[in-house]
Amino acid sequence: SDAEIEQVYQFALELGKNAGKLLLEAAQKRMSGDVQLDEVEKLNSVDIVTKTDEEVEAFIRTSILEKYPDHKFVGEESYSKGSSKEYLIDDSPTWCIDPLDGTVNFAHLSPFYCVSIGFLVQSQPVIGIVCAPFLQQTFSARRDHGAWLNETVRLPLQRNPVPPLPPTAPKGCIFSCEWGKDRRDIPDGNLARKVESFVNMATELGGKGGKGGMVHGVRSLGSATLDLCYVAMGGFDIWWEGGCWEWDVCAGICLLQEAGGLVTTANPPEDVDHAPVPPAKLGGRLYLAIRAAGDGEGESGREAQ
Ligand code: IPD
Repeated sequence: SDAEIEQVYQFALELGKNAGKLLLEAAQKRMSGDVQLDEVEKLNSVDIVTKTDEEVEAFIRTSILEKYPDHKFVGEESYSKGSSKEYLIDDSPTWCIDPLDGTVNFAHLSPFYCVSIGFLVQSQPVIGIVCAPFLQQTFSARRDHGAWLNETVRLPLQRNPVPPLPPTAPKGCIFSCEWGKDRRDIPDGNLARKVESFVNMATELGGKGGKGGMVHGVRSLGSATLDLCYVAMGGFDIWWEGGCWEWDVCAGICLLQEAGGLVTTANPPEDVDHAPVPPAKLGGRLYLAIRAAGDGEGESGREAQ
């Protein structure tokens, strides 16, 4: 029921803020020189896990299962240990957690890292909590109740005027896309094609084929979760990435949808004018997110009552 989901939301929000504090404390200990980074490589030298990822996941997992023993728990670090290779989401009430998204940033003490807590009912993300403690940003959303920054500012942020989404992608946008963890040097492989499309979008070269050409900016924050939060805010216009896992995007999808944006598991269409697209299906790996069109003026950016 709505009241039950509200209770779960309040619990998730506190949990996200407490987990965020743990991330910040771990970063502060390293900044003070007391503690060294304890990291392990997974698939290659850019795919790393730290002791902090594991400790924070254990904290979140224990807290959830104490409170909701019947709920299913899907977490990045538990999964990496290889318990299952199957599709992770089914119709049971499920928590989908990344204890530390942006692990490489955290390892470098770069600020773009966060904890991401998603909750699904019947495979649909209905609660999304993201806490980026160094940035002092907590994003929270629950289905049909909007998306919020630090619990007070409704998303998307009010911009005046609200820039229209370009009729042809992605000219004039801030476009965000991550480099991913597969850095193999394969001619015409994914990475090579990605680099080429960045160049085409960010330069006049892209104008040649009538596509892209001169986005205002290309961004790669190093956190898929924060990318989605910033599209929800409206600061980024488009985010696209192949290779994400459920825990990278679950909370962010709820946030973006509640902020009036679109997210789909599809290739970028030629035209990003909010044409109907299939809804995102968790586990699709490939995600395209587009910010709200800006036709809901009056609602966005207002203070909570
Ligand atoms: C990763 C980050 C990165 C994205 C990867 C994610 P992690 O998550 O979000 O930006 O490119 O797809 O797996 O490993 O830092 O939790």
